[in-house]
Amino acid sequence: MPARLRGHLDRLDHALHGWVVDPSRPEASLELTLLVDGVPRASTAARLPRPDVAAAGLGGPACGFVLTLPAECLDGREHDLALQLPGGRPFQLPGIAPRTMLGRTRFQVLPAGPELLASAVALLRQSNVESALDPGLVDCDVVRHWLGGANDPSRRVLKLAQANDRLVGYAEVDRRMVHGAPAGLLRMSVLAAYRRRGIGEALLARAEQRAATLGDTAMWLTVAETNAPARALYRKRGFHPAAQVPLLAWRHAAALAKVKPLLGNPPAGSPPP
Ligand SMILES: CC(C)(COP(=O)(O)OP(=O)(O)OC[C@H]1O[C@@H](n2cnc3c(N)ncnc32)[C@H](O)[C@@H]1OP(=O)(O)O)[C@@H](O)C(=O)NCCC(=O)NCCS
Repeated sequence: MPARLRGHLDRLDHALHGWVVDPSRPEASLELTLLVDGVPRASTAARLPRPDVAAAGLGGPACGFVLTLPAECLDGREHDLALQLPGGRPFQLPGIAPRTMLGRTRFQVLPAGPELLASAVALLRQSNVESALDPGLVDCDVVRHWLGGANDPSRRVLKLAQANDRLVGYAEVDRRMVHGAPAGLLRMSVLAAYRRRGIGEALLARAEQRAATLGDTAMWLTVAETNAPARALYRKRGFHPAAQVPLLAWRHAAALAKVKPLLGNPPAGSPPP
């Protein structure tokens, strides 16, 4: 993003919703063009009311925009998104991954299996890249063990999400008992290009359902106070702050422990875990 600009991409559906201001000219409505894979696809002036941005002292009050995507771009595939000011260079705003899926996502949640090895290696390497970790740390043997270990339901539940013929997310529950308490410590991630499409929620629901079927009565997790997307997801799924921090959460000193009681059996008509 040009140093002089401030802004954010808030939402992506059939259009890209966000706001942008030039703090040196806060009253100016910036003319924006949306590039999809480097091709100009939509233009608008950022002048929609954004009282929230103004109230936060970030700019405005009329700096919002909606850039409607042409129907042919909404093809369920990954695309590169960028914005451009007249005569300027392409730039990105924070909030939505620059390479992202457009249109409806068809995805399925799968149990772990050895046939997913190559795709799981690619998933974990990409997750590392997105977390600023070395993708080289993801080793085939470790991933084979990760997938294979999920076959032991007394220890772990692992659910994987697949879209566009690749794995795009996972949720993992650790079922080891620690000092007699149901652990259920959870890790989960969805690739940035596939977020905000219900994949994280579906993964979590299926992992909870499987754990409940196996007899777990509660699921613990820890989440950083600054991780707003994950906290919103966990709140939506019914997790609430834990009265007591489980032992496994101690090593995440900065994290907030949450707990959710799991009902014994999945609701009637729900898909098999
Ligand atoms: C947290 C994470 C797994 C969510 O995955 P996702 O597929 O984008 O989530 P979903 O699309 O299923 O969202 C389900 C709900 O979560 C909440 N949510 C998810 N992302 C959100 C965001 N960026 N802002 C606000 N709410 C958000 C919403 O309530 C959403 O429901 P809605 O779409 O009806 O509003 C994903 O952001 C991620 O992988 N983050 C990085 C890794 C991480 O933080 N893991 C958790 C560690 S504790």
